[in-house]
Amino acid sequence: MENNVRGGDTPVKCELEANKNYAWCTCGHSENQPFCNGLHKQEKATPPMIFSVEEDKTAHLCTCKLTKNPPYCDGSHK
Ligand code: FES
Repeated sequence: MENNVRGGDTPVKCELEANKNYAWCTCGHSENQPFCNGLHKQEKATPPMIFSVEEDKTAHLCTCKLTKNPPYCDGSHK
């Protein structure tokens, strides 16, 4: 979407808890990368992607929003 921007240039390492819903920012405007802070509404950009994991894990979440495997970094930021 044309109102989306890059939210960053490198992934953020996150400790994810099992069975908890996370809202991954898809529009890049959030100041709380890699998570949504609601700014997509005023920016008329895309809403967050809600996801959860089945077990506690450490993950590198994408901030550039170019990943082909959201919400995870796949190296596309380079
Ligand atoms: S931060 Fe987006 S692919 Fe790595």
